[in-house]
Amino acid sequence: MVHKTPKIVRTVADLRAQVGAWRAAGERVALIPTMGALHQGHLSLIELGQTRAQRTVASVFVNPKQFAPHEDFDSYPRGEARDAELLASVGCDLMFAPGVDEMYAPGFSTTINLTGVSEPLEGAARPQFFGGVATVVTKLLIQSQADVAVFGEKDYQQLQVIRRVVRDLDLPVEIVGAPTARAEDGLALSSRNAYLTPEERAAAVALPNAIKAAAQAVAAGGRIDDAEEAAKTAILAAGFRQVDYVDIREAGDLSRLGPGPIGAAKGRILVAAWLGKTRLIDNMAVG
Ligand code: PAJ
Repeated sequence: MVHKTPKIVRTVADLRAQVGAWRAAGERVALIPTMGALHQGHLSLIELGQTRAQRTVASVFVNPKQFAPHEDFDSYPRGEARDAELLASVGCDLMFAPGVDEMYAPGFSTTINLTGVSEPLEGAARPQFFGGVATVVTKLLIQSQADVAVFGEKDYQQLQVIRRVVRDLDLPVEIVGAPTARAEDGLALSSRNAYLTPEERAAAVALPNAIKAAAQAVAAGGRIDDAEEAAKTAILAAGFRQVDYVDIREAGDLSRLGPGPIGAAKGRILVAAWLGKTRLIDNMAVG
């Protein structure tokens, strides 16, 4: 099969020119922000974008501002040629792949300052993370003038933070959440899964299994604190070395629920845990 190759642009000016031409022709544009190392989960976001807009733009930018100095910015997997091929295979129209200087010109001094939904969970474990994400995503939304932007529920708190930023800053874009794409055994697809040894990859399935069991126990009327504790025990027993959190929270604002039964609330179970040197996150609906 011959695939349409996506055009690659590297400057904000070229991005604006292309998107401007599409919008002038009456076409809607969907943006799918990524850090590359693309997998089927990313491609499912492009496909969802194609149902909401005539044109899709994928950004590929490993954003230094969302990594702390001790984190994996330098070793984060990169492979632009492969990413371009995968985008071509699903008919993505444009790949925006700016360099760091294009995104953060010398003297760059502006960061979005967040409270509320960004504070617990990932915000507590990675204090610089959501400020960096919100800043780059806001820039990408403004740069691209997209009508729609698609984000995965895989990064559930990130999705909620972005919804909040867009509302708070009156950004004229519709945010669409996409379901988590999983491997056959249930592990959520992630660029960081590439770090896992074969043994770790086999053990990793304990993560979705544990939160699925906890979600089911709470949906059946069980206590939230008991379900969280059981999930943590199961994850550690499978060989994970540390659980940063396993929390059942209110699905919209991620405020605390429990410790007793969930009642009529709509919940989300969220987990982050370390398997060797790799930090994995996952989440599921509860109730
Ligand atoms: P990245 O981890 O590359 O993810 C890009 C998008 O793909 C995010 O919206 C993420 O939630 C989604 N995604 C990742 N794995 C998925 C899966 N298994 N199923 C469905 N969607 C999945 O998230 C980021 O990059 C960055 O923080 C970014 C938003 C691009 C800002 O730099």
